[in-house]
Amino acid sequence: MSVDLRTRIGAASLPNPIMTAAGCAGIGRELGRFFDVAKLGAFVTPSITPEARAGRPAPRLAETPSGVLNSTGLQGPGIDAFLARDLPWLDEQQARTIVSIAGNSVEEYAEVAGRLATAPGVTAVEINTACPNVEDRGLMFAAHPTAAAEVVRAVRAHTRRGVPVLAKLSADVTDVVGVAMACADAGADALSMINTLHGMAVDTSTFRPRLAGITGGLSGPAIRPVAVRCVYQVHAALPEVPIIGIGGVRTGLDALELVLAGASAVAVGTANIHDPSACVRILRELDAALRERGISHLADAVGLAHKPAGTLMRRIDPNVGVAEPTEQETLQ
Ligand SMILES: Cc1cc2nc3c(=O)[nH]c(=O)nc-3n(C[C@H](O)[C@H](O)[C@H](O)COP(=O)(O)O)c2cc1C
Repeated sequence: MSVDLRTRIGAASLPNPIMTAAGCAGIGRELGRFFDVAKLGAFVTPSITPEARAGRPAPRLAETPSGVLNSTGLQGPGIDAFLARDLPWLDEQQARTIVSIAGNSVEEYAEVAGRLATAPGVTAVEINTACPNVEDRGLMFAAHPTAAAEVVRAVRAHTRRGVPVLAKLSADVTDVVGVAMACADAGADALSMINTLHGMAVDTSTFRPRLAGITGGLSGPAIRPVAVRCVYQVHAALPEVPIIGIGGVRTGLDALELVLAGASAVAVGTANIHDPSACVRILRELDAALRERGISHLADAVGLAHKPAGTLMRRIDPNVGVAEPTEQETLQ
């Protein structure tokens, strides 16, 4: 049985649901040495800012037992160099490129979106709402539904019709569903979640914080249950809005978990740092996992975890394959 892995993110149709997560796979050329980037559902760029940024001082990465802390500070080339050098390369490879954008004010986001509006090769624009809003005491846009909505509205107004606008949400908020609803109301065609979680590590030999930036973003397997929870809650509240699930995905089964929670696509971040071929391996594993479970269309698996117990298809024992329903399940 072959599996139909096609998925849709707003107006964009993708051949498969696996993409890179922003900032974790270079600008594309780095991955291009390992596989054809057009094989990805989409390539997501690091967050592009109006000006080039040098980022924070080193050390910027610290390993923890189940994840990585980073404080890169959105190091990047800025929109001019991106448009001149990086986007054309991705377009030549026929990659579907989702451009992540960032800024310190609503105007900066609008400026980057406006510069992208006439550029060829932009499949979608993803708004990194985890940036500090300099006009709002440095609180990140994602921290408040009104601030998040304002930036989404501005980016939507500067983006071509037919190019989906994605709002990338942070789980470091009290009510992720409230922020998600505000972003959807403001014109976001899809939601990406989650960004890194704010964390910190202290070196017990030097007694000093392990990151030069002191605190940083936690990513990797440690955050996957938080990502699954956010995807599940937001899909329950907004079942029509496509979600890109992100957080700690290392295997095809990890990706399937986010799909069952409600994600229509899955982005892979930290796993690329250890294994540059992670995305193509995860795609292969997801395909096999769906096939083993008798699911022939990815779309049929989206949000299955929301179905009441007893209405689901046959239970799977991953060691055995498809299992027959238990007596109790048959009776339900
Ligand atoms: C080194 C590094 C750089 C990142 N840069 C960005 C970025 O530029 N923009 C963004 O929206 N998220 C950025 N992220 C967050 C990831 O896109 C992703 O949301 C997060 O790492 C969770 O996924 P993971 O557990 O698979 O890594 C970065 C993460 C890491 C580890």
